[in-house]
Amino acid sequence: KILILDFGSQYTQLIARRIRELNVYSEIVPFNKVPELDDTIKGIILSGSPFSVADENALHTDLDQLIGQRPVLGICYGAQYIAKQMGGKVERSLKREYGKAELSRMFQADPFLADVPEGSQVWMSHGDTIMEIPEQFELLAGTAHVDVAAYKSKAGAFAQPVYCIQFHPEVSHSLDGMTVLKNFVKDIAGCDAEWTPAAFVEETVQSLRDQLGDDHVLMGLSGGVDSTVAASLLHEAIGDNLVCIFVDNGLLRKDEFEEVLHSYKDMGLRVVGVDAKEAFYEELKGISDPEQKRKVIGRVFIEVFEREALKLEEEDRAIKWLGQGTIYPDVIESVSVHGPSVTIKSHHNVGGLPEMLNLKIVEPLRMLFKDEVRLVGTELEVPQAIVSRHPFPGPGLGIRILGDITPEKVRMLQEADAIYINNLRKFGLYDEVWQAGTILLPVQSVGVMGDERTYEKTVALRAVNSRDGMTAEWSRFPHDFLATVSSEIINNVKGINRVVYDISTKPPSTIEWE
Ligand code: XMP
Repeated sequence: KILILDFGSQYTQLIARRIRELNVYSEIVPFNKVPELDDTIKGIILSGSPFSVADENALHTDLDQLIGQRPVLGICYGAQYIAKQMGGKVERSLKREYGKAELSRMFQADPFLADVPEGSQVWMSHGDTIMEIPEQFELLAGTAHVDVAAYKSKAGAFAQPVYCIQFHPEVSHSLDGMTVLKNFVKDIAGCDAEWTPAAFVEETVQSLRDQLGDDHVLMGLSGGVDSTVAASLLHEAIGDNLVCIFVDNGLLRKDEFEEVLHSYKDMGLRVVGVDAKEAFYEELKGISDPEQKRKVIGRVFIEVFEREALKLEEEDRAIKWLGQGTIYPDVIESVSVHGPSVTIKSHHNVGGLPEMLNLKIVEPLRMLFKDEVRLVGTELEVPQAIVSRHPFPGPGLGIRILGDITPEKVRMLQEADAIYINNLRKFGLYDEVWQAGTILLPVQSVGVMGDERTYEKTVALRAVNSRDGMTAEWSRFPHDFLATVSSEIINNVKGINRVVYDISTKPPSTIEWE
């Protein structure tokens, strides 16, 4: 595998994903927490950083532990840091170089730049510039702006080669970026393309069997990709020793509870469906504040889940574990400008549950990115309708009904949402967007239907393109699609006489309205 030292760049996760796309496993660790270099680690990458190497509080790592031990690749800050620490010169420029550049000057041929043509477009984003490289190094390529776009250690200078690049190969604007990464990972570090969904399934199933033995596992399902794929993997490993609970909180999409429960049964999962709609509606009565709603929905979920879990535990004394669909972005210790920080988010709805139920946690997807979860799901033959499903918030339609929640409003929104989603599929747009949904607004406006004046509610349509939900761009839909959705909703959903489309990006807006 490849070890990536994170110096806090916004692109660190992207480097890891790109390497995994080459079917090589990669793992991110904070710059100051380098593990012992065992045989599995074949190469090391130093990431970029929002810091400057000239900063007083620049982030430091012990290069002696890395250079010479394994092939090393420094990217951006990583390249500047190596230059500076080994005796080169890095200068703070007044102007950031940001955007596209070309490797217009290739100084020598090297396996690292094999198949990268002269003039190849690369993506630059740096404030500091490497003015002189250290003595033990030599230049590989430059752009019109900078002499040092790529450099490497001279033959024999260290026991293992060191490569450094100022540009970002992980960003798609670096057109031959994947080639550069492949050259480093496969040819220089010697990694084999062994990281595949099939291999992951095989290894994980085996290690789950070893870890769990004859113990039974309890798992809460949400209908989403992560929990479903996690359950499917556990089922593959321990069969009917997995027991699942799927709660209808009354805030799911139209017919979702029945459809998803049906798919789960088809997949052979032992699943208990719990209709808790009334309990949720009762507790949510009169509550309009978004955070308050989240709290109530979370609390009621835990109460319902705990009650059902205790019933199951009573019947089945072998339940020792709680399965969770936690994925890699939730467990990476992220390095931020505000200093290294640990952001470990537990799976939304079940915080506190393992202690209450006295269960240990098993998280079979904790090393996977979302796109890998989907590939593993496909490998496990999880229905495509679930694998390719948009993200859906834990509190469901509860945070898409602005103001207080009533069963009647839920019904209205479910109808409108179903029309929207069905048309997205019909127009072939569903897989083009990251997430889509409808929001019921607490405003009434005047309309006219036949000869009658109406005074009814408004629905907002939301759809975004995003990579991870952290930033998002509103989706540019064709007007005829929007027209179809609008008239179908207004003609079919009683109580709605107006449809609007949300054209806000995140930031400064958010994806959800609450
Ligand atoms: P925002 O609205 O913060 O949403 O831009 C980013 C992503 O997170 C989802 N989201 C939630 N998911 N519980 C969840 O499980 C929540 O309370 C919650 N709030 C937002 C949202 O749907 C989007 O995918």
